[in-house]
Formats: sequence, structure tokens, C-alpha cells
Amino acid sequence: MRLEDSLGRPLRDLRISVTDRCNFRCDYCMPREHFDSKYEFLPKEKIISYEEIIMIVKSILPLGLKKVRITGGEPLIRKDISKLIKMIRELDDELDIAMTTNGVLLRRNIQQLKESGLDRVTVSLDSLDNDLFKEITDSNYGVEDVLDGIEAAIEAGIEVKINSVIKRNLNENQLVPLIEKSIIYNVPIRFIEFMDVGSTNSWNLDSVITGSEMRKIIQNKFGPVIQKNSNYYGEVAKQWIIVDKKYEMGFIESISSPFCGSCTRARISSNGHFFTCLFSEKGNDLLSLIRMEAEISDVSQAVTKIWKNRNDKYSEERKDATKERIPVEMSYIGG
Ligand code: GTP
Ligand code: 5AD
Ligand code: SF4
Ligand code: SF4
Repeated sequence: MRLEDSLGRPLRDLRISVTDRCNFRCDYCMPREHFDSKYEFLPKEKIISYEEIIMIVKSILPLGLKKVRITGGEPLIRKDISKLIKMIRELDDELDIAMTTNGVLLRRNIQQLKESGLDRVTVSLDSLDNDLFKEITDSNYGVEDVLDGIEAAIEAGIEVKINSVIKRNLNENQLVPLIEKSIIYNVPIRFIEFMDVGSTNSWNLDSVITGSEMRKIIQNKFGPVIQKNSNYYGEVAKQWIIVDKKYEMGFIESISSPFCGSCTRARISSNGHFFTCLFSEKGNDLLSLIRMEAEISDVSQAVTKIWKNRNDKYSEERKDATKERIPVEMSYIGG
């Protein structure tokens, strides 16, 4: 059955946050002044188990699901994460299974992840300058640890992408070095506009550097860039090519050029709530339903009902928003 929401958008993509914890404290995602020792992370019993995740994936597969992305927080700090990948892979050979990670625990996990059936990893890296990296991530790790993770994934033959959030007056000077490094690695990089997700990252429009501003900086160094067609329907990143280098990169322009019109993404938070938009204030508690002994068909019916009613297009409406909203944090809902 092909399921569509009230705006005609199919449900193709499920992003599952497996933990609300992270070993980084990126200022745009989990700023330490909020996520400190007093912050109450989810207790173990409220975290969705692998078996419960499988039940949800099984219930959505017949509705047209094509891609599952494992996120967090940092997914590699969850115990036996490869086991979950294997359990998902066993459901469907064709499913595209990806993971978003900060990369520092990749080397020690990569072989098992690969053997379990992971297709791709997307590694977040916002700076190649170690001091700036430390300032942004507020972690005990350095740039070398992330690069080592990326190299391990490339060596293992897993498809790699790099994601960089660029903030004005913070790391726009990293655009050029990050591209140079990605060309050496021969992996695509995607630059992300700083988004107003959650309610703790002190977002304001002045700190957003738009995709088009980023491209000016890139052109100054590398010469002309031209836009190319998307790789697939609903692709979040707009693809551009540096003509002289024949190098393709992406821009995720959620602020300056929203892409809600083709948004095929649903999210499961680490406590098993189903969200129809990254900027939702509230999810639908599938975990409680499952813990009340629901069958797969019950979960499938619940998701179908929610998706049919879906009309979210937050990024497109942002400019006209009048009422104060309190969206959930990205570390909990998954990036
Ligand atoms: P591919 O499958 O490799 O094309 O990945 P993707 O671009 O679908 O996902 P990825 O996890 O790499 O997303 C990159 C970033 O885009 C995320 O970290 C978010 O910052 C942002 N993003 C992803 N999905 C959405 C969305 O639905 N809405 C908004 N506003 N931003 C999103
Ligand atoms: N704006 C843009 N991207 C963000 N991410 C986390 N918080 C934000 C934000 N406020 C990105 C990370 C990572 C993914 C999990 O989400 O860089 O690539
Ligand atoms: Fe952790 Fe990723 Fe958030 Fe940084 S952006 S704090 S690495 S979940
Ligand atoms: Fe999809 Fe919501 Fe992002 Fe728009 S803002 S692309 S509807 S998740």
C-alpha cells in the first residue's frame, strides 16, 4: 500500500534516534549550559528497545518505507548497535540503511557495522582546525579522531558523506579546507544552514549563513559552481558542482530554501514517539502502544492514521509564525 499524507507526500524515510546522549556538546545542538550534569536524560526503561524498534520498522515497511537512518544523540554510544543494524537488515535486503555519527567511535565499530548490513555513514565535521573543533564540539576529542573514523569507513568500503553545519562568524573559514579534504577523500560533503531546532541553541537569523553566501566564498577560491538535478525525489541537499574540479557537493538550505514540499521523513525519538516533523512540539507515543501488547497491525494502523492527517511544513511557515513554539531537542528526536 502506498501511503500519502494530506499534502500527497509518501512515507519513505524513517529516522530513528537510539539515544538522547552524546559524547559531544556541539553548541548548535547540545550546548553544555543546558546539557550539563543536571540535565535529565531519559532513564533506561523509557528508551525504546531494539525489539520495539523492529516492531515499528516492520509495521512501516509495507507502507512504502525505503530508507532507515540511525541517529541520536550519538548512536555509537548505544550498546551493541550493530545488533540493531543486523535485525533491521534481516527484515529487508533492499532497504537503504544509513547512520549519522560524529565519527569518533567509528573505527572500533566499523567492521561489525559493515558485517551487520549497514550501507552508509554520514559523519558530522564542522572544522579541520583543532582549536575551533574543540570550541564547537566542547568534547575531549580532536579532529584527528573524526578523520580516523572517516578513513576507517572508507577503508571498509562503506559509503561515506560528510555533513558540516556552518554558522556565521564561527566556521565559514572552514568551507574551503573542508572541501579540499573531501576532495582528497573523494567523498561528498554537504553544508547545512544553522537551523532553529530545539529551544536551547540560541538560534537567531543573524548567525545563519545561507547556502548562496557559502557558494560565494567557495567560488572565490575554486571558480564557478553550477547546480545539478537532485539524485532522487525528496533529496534534502541541493547538489552543486565545482566546475574546474568536477566535484559535487550539497547544500541543506532549510532556512533560505525550505524543502517541505517533498518531505518524506518520519522520526522515532529515543523514547519511542513518532514525529511527523523535525520541528514538532509533540510526538505520538508508539512505545506505550507497543508496551500495551499491541500487534504489528495495530502499530501499522496507528502510523497510517497519523501520516494521512499529516500537514507539517514548518520550514516553509517559519517566516509567518506568530506564536511561540517549544520544539523538542534534536538530540532526542534525531537529526
Ligand atoms: P541522504 O540519504 O544521504 O541523502 O541523507 P539526508 O540528506 O536525507 O540526511 P542527513 O541525515 O545527512 O541530513 C542532513 C541534515 O539535514 C540533518 O542533519 C538535518 O540537519 C537536516 N535535515 C534532514 N532532514 C530534515 C528535514 O526533514 N527537515 C529539515 N528542516 N532538516 C532536515
Ligand atoms: N542546525 C543544523 N544542523 C544541525 N545538526 C544538529 N543541530 C543542528 C542545527 N541546529 C546536525 C548535525 C548533524 C546532524 C545530526 O544534525 O551537524 O550533522
Ligand atoms: Fe552530538 Fe551530533 Fe548533536 Fe554534536 S550534533 S552534540 S555530535 S548529536
Ligand atoms: Fe519535513 Fe518538517 Fe523539515 Fe519541512 S520542516 S522538511 S515538514 S521535517
